[in-house]
Amino acid sequence: MEKSSVLRVLKEREGEFVSGEELARACGVSRAAIWKRVNQLRLAGYEIEASTRLGYRLLSVPDLLLPDELAWNLGTAVVGRRIVHFDEVGSTNEEAKSLAVGGAEDGTAVVAEVQTGGRGRLGRGWFSPKGGIWLSLVLRPRIAPADAPKIMMLAASSVVVALRAIGLPAEIKWPNDIVVRGKKIAGILTEVAGQPEVVDHLVVGIGVNVNIRREDFPRDLLLSATSAFLEVGKTVDRISLARYLLEEIDSRYRAFNEGRADDILREWRSACSTIGKRVGLKTGFGAVRGLAVDVDERGSLILEAEDGSRRAFAAGEVTIIKE
Ligand code: BTN
Repeated sequence: MEKSSVLRVLKEREGEFVSGEELARACGVSRAAIWKRVNQLRLAGYEIEASTRLGYRLLSVPDLLLPDELAWNLGTAVVGRRIVHFDEVGSTNEEAKSLAVGGAEDGTAVVAEVQTGGRGRLGRGWFSPKGGIWLSLVLRPRIAPADAPKIMMLAASSVVVALRAIGLPAEIKWPNDIVVRGKKIAGILTEVAGQPEVVDHLVVGIGVNVNIRREDFPRDLLLSATSAFLEVGKTVDRISLARYLLEEIDSRYRAFNEGRADDILREWRSACSTIGKRVGLKTGFGAVRGLAVDVDERGSLILEAEDGSRRAFAAGEVTIIKE
């Protein structure tokens, strides 16, 4: 039988004392080794009470997206079956990409507490201080590159569902911004690698502004961005939110792999607040205006001009025209 880890036993018995002897037996190591491990956990931020008479008791876990915490009772089949954690990293997307090139399995997750070179869409940076969820997933669906937008869509819907679960009226703004009351709370950056006819892997990078306070945001960003903390009015449990998000992505990823891509598109459309609005669209080729009538399965925005003609746009920046 596989021996348990000290952390696992303490977590299973959270709030209770577990004797050193029992821990040593459950983990198959000496009591001295248990003491050493307890000290390592303390250094990692776990609060563990030690009593010579009663043993050890877990008092609190650190507010960090540690693999042991995210994986605890995680109800996923694929997503997050391996979790790589960094206190600080340039960009989780970059790390995920190099893991993917090295053969990382489908569902590998990379998380960081801080990103020093977080990347956003359109070559922009992504503000990534402490308190967010900065997550990148390596996914290996068997699809053509043209179908990759559906993976971004399922990621966006998952973020929306996770944020709604904590009471936020989250919506999708085309192409894939997650907004709450008109301000951006999360973004998704997907990078695809493979041949023209088949994807080798995708890296889906998700950034969620969770416990980021007003004073932490650069002033100009506050005009367009928000955080769960600001919208809910109190600190949000980042670990539960991240775990929930992984589970939501996993169930949609499974549906997608089982051929239920239509459900994904339907759900995405119903969460998208851009459809049905008059919008201005800034593209690399200039600016256009029109009625956003739909988003097709490639993720392109369909704009209807005054004369009724329709055009699809693959990328750009929309602003809603207030009437
Ligand atoms: C956007 O511009 O809306 C996309 C932002 C994506 C940010 C996330 S944070 C985790 C991952 N690592 C990165 O460098 N970017 C993505």
